[in-house]
Amino acid sequence: IAGVKGGPDEGLGLVGQKMTIRGWVRTCRLQKTFTFIEVNDGSCLSNLQAVVQNDVEGYDAIESGLVTTGASVAIEGELIESQGAKQKVELKATKVTLIGGSDATTFPVQKKKLTREYLRTIAHMRPRTNTFGAVARVRNALAYATHQFFQEKGFVWVASPIITASDCEGAGEQFCVTTLIPNSHLDPTTKISDVPTTKEGVLDWSQDFFGKPAFLTVSGQLNAEIYATSLSDVYTFGPTFRAENSNTSRHLAEFWMIEPELAFADLRDDMACATAYLQHVVRHILDNCREDMDFFDKWVEKGIIARLQSVAEKDFVHITYTDAVELLTKAKKKFEFPVKWGCDLQSEHERYLTEEAFKGSPVIVTDYPKDIKAFYMRENEDGKTVAAMDILVPRVGELIGGSQREERLDRLEARIEELGLNKDSYWWYLDLRRYGTVPHAGFGLGFERLVQFATGIENIRDVIPFPRTPGSAEF
Ligand code: 4AD
Ligand code: MG
Repeated sequence: IAGVKGGPDEGLGLVGQKMTIRGWVRTCRLQKTFTFIEVNDGSCLSNLQAVVQNDVEGYDAIESGLVTTGASVAIEGELIESQGAKQKVELKATKVTLIGGSDATTFPVQKKKLTREYLRTIAHMRPRTNTFGAVARVRNALAYATHQFFQEKGFVWVASPIITASDCEGAGEQFCVTTLIPNSHLDPTTKISDVPTTKEGVLDWSQDFFGKPAFLTVSGQLNAEIYATSLSDVYTFGPTFRAENSNTSRHLAEFWMIEPELAFADLRDDMACATAYLQHVVRHILDNCREDMDFFDKWVEKGIIARLQSVAEKDFVHITYTDAVELLTKAKKKFEFPVKWGCDLQSEHERYLTEEAFKGSPVIVTDYPKDIKAFYMRENEDGKTVAAMDILVPRVGELIGGSQREERLDRLEARIEELGLNKDSYWWYLDLRRYGTVPHAGFGLGFERLVQFATGIENIRDVIPFPRTPGSAEF
């Protein structure tokens, strides 16, 4: 259907062509001597309307009542100019084949407006709606544009592991991986006392498959650093996991992260790369997802296209953490959490900066206090701050977190000790500084937050096909 309706003439150039469309019925309206069937195949937002005279082959399926909303059909016919005002072309059917019937009275996605909360409970059906179809296509386009951007710049894509023994962020938000011994494999004479049991079997920590505690990765950064200090610029793009028990519209337990790592680079290079990347992907969807973006502009966030256009064109604001704190303390707005140098910025502060103080521009905040940032960030000359950067955007808040990495062995060792981390478990990370160290920098972008930013969808659960949040893993 995208192939027909996607052109600038909305299909007029294809009039006279014979074709078969396969898809799902959105509406089926019986008239006296013919029937209108609107079909959508997910390739675009638009439906294609088929006009089926009641003498065409297969019309009995329509009479049987099974060709209703939700049914799958194949319709053969010829594209003609439409008499209707709503579309330029329609399909004059010569044959209708019902592939899978549907019961309109029980089909869960009815025409009436369904709340996003309700649609989350039917995650197997929600991609049949306009909104979720559009989100899926824009998400796909953002992923494509991501690879395109980095590939064109010569970055090598690196697969970082999902199971790992190392803790990149040190924020204590890891899921632990353990071994399930199925009930059928248990020796009934063994006394199981200390190990947790489930209805499927026993979770045995002592026989751990990995020999020591293993976790689901919170970030592929440390692995990316290994490759960046061998292949120069690299990036990862894969799922990451955080066991934070927070029910917010910006947090998932499983989310996708894009983590570029630049060799022979400092924080300035990192900021420039992140800016160019964001501008590239935004431009890409404005150029290539026009129909879906118009839909978001009309139904989800008014003005989103203009907002994204300005993101693609204008420089981002840059402010240091210290200046941001000063600006926030002087703000007239009363915050729930008071701002003080040394405290992490809360989401209300982040949103104030990007939405109010800087009027919708993305804001790059740099040089955070070292005590609120991870161990690997490069210490600045002042001894108090690190070469960190976060990029904040309207509505979403923190979209990107990155930094220049500490490449000096003595400084990194000192920091690991200062924080009471186990130096032995970082032996390989320290080796990168021992053998041919280079200044390097990188960032992590939460892919779902990017999709939120690009579509205007308020809740992060609605921009990933199957959200994983506390208590939800059904689909
Ligand atoms: O700021 P974070 O924790 O940074 C890192 O993990 C670094 N190792 C990245 C790097 O330098 N290579 O996470 C990076 C981004 C955040 O800015 C946010 O967009 C996203 O990941 N993020 C989440 N997205 C959804 N749900 C969560 N629970 C998220 N936690 C972080
Ligand atoms: Mg962060």
